Amino acid sequence: MAYESAAQKTILVMENQKPTSNRRKFLTNAAKIAGVGAAGFIYIKGCDSEPSEVEPGPGNTHAFLTNPYLLTLEPEKVYVRWISNLKSYSWVEFGESENLVHKTHAVTNGLVNANTRIHEIELSDLKPGTTYYYRAASKQIIQFQPYNVVYGETIYSKVFQFKTMDEQAKEVSWLILNDIHDVRESYEHLIGLNKNEPYDHVFLNGDMYDDLENEMQVIDLMLKPCAEIFAAQKPMIFVRGNHDIRGQYAREMLSYFSFPKGPYFTYQHGPVFVIVLDTGEDKEDAAAVYAGLVDSEGFRKKQAMWLETVFQSDAYKKAPFKVVKMHIPTHYTTGSIGELHCRELFTPLFNQYKVDLVISGHTHVYGVHPPVKGKHNYPIIIGGGPAPGTRTLMKIKANSQQLHVQMLDDAGKEVGSYTVT
Ligand SMILES: [Fe+2]
Repeated sequence: MAYESAAQKTILVMENQKPTSNRRKFLTNAAKIAGVGAAGFIYIKGCDSEPSEVEPGPGNTHAFLTNPYLLTLEPEKVYVRWISNLKSYSWVEFGESENLVHKTHAVTNGLVNANTRIHEIELSDLKPGTTYYYRAASKQIIQFQPYNVVYGETIYSKVFQFKTMDEQAKEVSWLILNDIHDVRESYEHLIGLNKNEPYDHVFLNGDMYDDLENEMQVIDLMLKPCAEIFAAQKPMIFVRGNHDIRGQYAREMLSYFSFPKGPYFTYQHGPVFVIVLDTGEDKEDAAAVYAGLVDSEGFRKKQAMWLETVFQSDAYKKAPFKVVKMHIPTHYTTGSIGELHCRELFTPLFNQYKVDLVISGHTHVYGVHPPVKGKHNYPIIIGGGPAPGTRTLMKIKANSQQLHVQMLDDAGKEVGSYTVT
């Protein structure tokens, strides 16, 4: 890892100003071309770095590299994550008003989590469907020796608010993005198309990255823009696409997210039971480009077996609407081995257990595909991206009577819709 202090100062000054789309564009381009990170780090493409081993450049004061970002899958729990530039002891202060009467830190095996830069605080025993206020805090650890811990500066985020999920909610709504492929200004643009309409969370349906070389890409190209635009207040739920699992840092990337049930999972959102599948790579595992380091086939088979138990569950059977979100769709792909494996494995299950809707990305060609009897008895909606003119925002609204999907192109025009009743 190498750093360069003059450029670092320049970027820090820019980051302290209110971002504009031009500035974002510049930073994105700078980050992609020159390898300049959000906090002013200069990174060398291809360098090795463990999440906890990245050190700040000279002269850096204690600072957050991201706003806090929320990840949650349960009505009574929220996972608050953020990243700081220096190792610290961190906690969250929160309450049902701006008077933050509670404080929580993380404990693992009898020790308070500390001396780390990547923070995860689980707020539990929350009330479903309730608004909370919170702020993140990190106290720098200058020295960490037995019997001799020396603290430095404590930094605090702004106070943000969020609302916990409500399994019993009569009406729910959320947004879906997919295939951003490192074009980080797309987050602001596409979320902006929603205008001021209320929504509960944002689902990121894979290929948010092109590939992953180092921590600064994880931060700059997704976490930082998302945390600035929505994720400090609206939870984001993420499933990986085939590009998100490529590159030397793809294995570390998961440590910046909270997957309490693993990378594939279910969640209940009001009347909607959601199944999230991690569809893995799109080519065969034996493809030379994977160098023997991919086992997507086994991973998908494991998910198919798990799906059988999900479909037998009371929660699935009782839910008015059953939605699957998976990056690679079961149909309308180019037909590579991995894509066909998704089709062969999951289509019979979706048909047999009557899923109401499958929402995907991956193909970069948006479209609404109604059920085709004997092939896929369920509708498939595919979001587009990443190039301007092909990007989409999906808006989902559901109550106990109907679930409606609206797809907007990046000019804000409706280019597809589907209603399940
Ligand atoms: Fe993809």
